[in-house]
Amino acid sequence: MNIIDMKNNNNYELLKIAGNAIKNGELVIFPTETVYGIGANGLDKTAVESIFIAKGRKTDNPLILHISNMDMVNDIAKDITDLEQLLMNELWPGPFTIVLNKKDIVPDVVTGNLNTVGVRMPSNEIARKLIEYSNVPIAAPSANISGKPSGTNIEDIIDELKDKVGYIIDGGDTKIGLESTVVRVIDNNIHILRPGYITQEDLSKYANVIVDKHILNKIDDNIDILSPGMKYKHYAPNTKCILVYSEDNNKLISKIKEIENQYNKCLVITNDKNIKLFKNSLSYGSTKEDISHLIFKLLREADKMNVDMIIIEGVDQKDIGLAIMNRLLRACSYNYIEV
Ligand code: TXA
Ligand code: MG
Repeated sequence: MNIIDMKNNNNYELLKIAGNAIKNGELVIFPTETVYGIGANGLDKTAVESIFIAKGRKTDNPLILHISNMDMVNDIAKDITDLEQLLMNELWPGPFTIVLNKKDIVPDVVTGNLNTVGVRMPSNEIARKLIEYSNVPIAAPSANISGKPSGTNIEDIIDELKDKVGYIIDGGDTKIGLESTVVRVIDNNIHILRPGYITQEDLSKYANVIVDKHILNKIDDNIDILSPGMKYKHYAPNTKCILVYSEDNNKLISKIKEIENQYNKCLVITNDKNIKLFKNSLSYGSTKEDISHLIFKLLREADKMNVDMIIIEGVDQKDIGLAIMNRLLRACSYNYIEV
């Protein structure tokens, strides 16, 4: 494995070698504006299979194909409607994934045998250049072992993935920190399959928006859902976690203190304002943008602190709050209290 350090330079020529590696069937870890991806040539069945092996990912959980220009969409997807085209024109490049009808050129391993394919044009310049140099759509899930918090910096994931890839491109901390919004258009309604930085409020400018009911609810293993990824354990530290939320800060603090007192060693992940109130705490900042930027890193950090319980303060579900709560509920395996 080789590391390509792009943290302090924009000499994109350095990425050519990684682009070639992708073309030749190797795996490359690269930054995007959301989280790091572990990428392979999305048109090469064997290369894509090696992503599933590296992550220990269930094969029915489809991957997103990453593209660097609009022409590439038509190579992999068909029957694109006006609304789908409008969304792509407006929201790309950016943290937005759209599920489209796939063309036969896309191997079934990419899509978990579905006849649709998730497509995203990232805005991160390193990601875009890597796709350009590889000259193929790059299949890439988040860079982490399946079930663990997604990687938002190299330090967090290097140990778990370094033996499995040809190159790691270090672009520093990712800007957003939560994965892209995944949508599918059905009958001119925009269904949000996974919430992200592009919110329900943003999307409602273009059409009626339906938030998939599984976003904040536990999913039964056997049912068919629009987004297969939603049913698997995800983002979870090894330590037991509980998510606590209240609109009323006083009620919230007393509930957290009550739980804190039930354990020998407890860690509270909270905001800048409340941090001094607890015995052992970490702050996720003060805005929802701060939280989305830091949360996966903090979950990994918390896991190393050897505590009996991690208590996480929740947020309201408005705008990007929905994406934060979706990730936190799953990190806590739906262990949730609202007071
Ligand atoms: O921000 C992101 O989206 C990151 C970066 C690397 O681009 N990628 C990412 O990929 O989060 P992954 O594999 O961890 O999550 C992809 C999600 C899964 O929940 C999957 O089920 C859903 O997208 N998905 C992909 N293709 C789909 C399809 N054809 N139909 C429905 N859901 C799909
Ligand atoms: Mg993931």
